[in-house]
Amino acid sequence: MSLLKVNNLGVQFTTNDGIVSAVNGVSFDLEKGQTLGIVGESGSGKSQTVLAMMGLLARNGKTSGEAVYNGKNLLTMSPSELNRIRGDRVSMIFQDPMTSLNPYLTVERQMTEVLELHKGMTRREAKKRAIELLEAVRIPEAARRVDMYPHEFSGGMRQRVMIAMALLCEPEVLIADEPTTALDVTVQAQILTLLKDLQRDFGTSIIMITHDLGVVAGLCEKVMVMYGGRVMEYGTADEIFYQPSHPYTIGLLGALPRLDHDGSELVSIPGNPPNMARMPKGCPFSERCAHASDRCVNELPPLAASALNPHILRACHKPAAELVNEAREVAHV
Ligand SMILES: Nc1ncnc2c1ncn2[C@@H]1O[C@H](COP(=O)(O)OP(=O)(O)OP(=O)(O)O)[C@@H](O)[C@H]1O
Ligand SMILES: [Mg+2]
Repeated sequence: MSLLKVNNLGVQFTTNDGIVSAVNGVSFDLEKGQTLGIVGESGSGKSQTVLAMMGLLARNGKTSGEAVYNGKNLLTMSPSELNRIRGDRVSMIFQDPMTSLNPYLTVERQMTEVLELHKGMTRREAKKRAIELLEAVRIPEAARRVDMYPHEFSGGMRQRVMIAMALLCEPEVLIADEPTTALDVTVQAQILTLLKDLQRDFGTSIIMITHDLGVVAGLCEKVMVMYGGRVMEYGTADEIFYQPSHPYTIGLLGALPRLDHDGSELVSIPGNPPNMARMPKGCPFSERCAHASDRCVNELPPLAASALNPHILRACHKPAAELVNEAREVAHV
């Protein structure tokens, strides 16, 4: 059964340049204990998709569609109802820990405050729990470090503190927006292992936002590939890695280092993401797609089951069968 069901989610911003449709017709399902990866280049609408669900859009933003969590639409909830769910049942790890940690409060105070408020714990109980969680995210000497201020932690440690904070109320859904991009590769790997362990121990469902398809391969069961505010391809991670069927996914996979190649032929997708205020009429990727026809430029391809694999949804006019050879070149098998 799905815990979170997002249906036709849209985000529109009113700007001096006109209306920016940052997210269009995004739908996905998240089941208990499952991990969904949302992947795409910068500006593809990944963060706005989850911020919309959490009621955290900038003031000029509006949502449409629905995001049903435990039978209730998050998008139409009252602010107080949403506040109860946020940080308690659904919590979020942001890309930059310093924006969500208060520099003037010790880690102990930031953590205990939440537990006192949401769980009615005493300060003592809350502190004990805070230390346990810091230990769970492998902060050495947690009992001593809990009394430190955020700036006294290294970048990687701060990211762990953020994860511990996000887990305080044992959320059902953890949304991690690029939790490892600012970290070096070793620390990145440690944090990912940590998330996997926590998922196993707490049964948390995770939405992982990342530029990096490698992260998705190690962690996620399902993947949603976004571009220009739309879903390009959606399916299980295995299927998307072994049989990508959208030129954009194929491009992203081609830009991923592989163990069996020497790395010298790493190609990134030529061109840049489109200007959101001036989106093409047809497929958002058409301007950069080597397969684009007139139809692609003029007519938006609907997201529909692939003729080759009904479990994969793809938004592309080019038949999947005609991309098989190209897909094989980049497939991670
Ligand atoms: N307040 C706003 N007003 C107008 N446009 C906005 C606003 N916030 C975001 N956008 C636009 O929405 C689009 C999608 O942004 P989003 O933050 O979701 O990208 P992203 O996929 O998370 O990218 P990144 O990987 O860089 O974080 C971008 O083009 C961005 O410029
Ligand atoms: Mg983002």
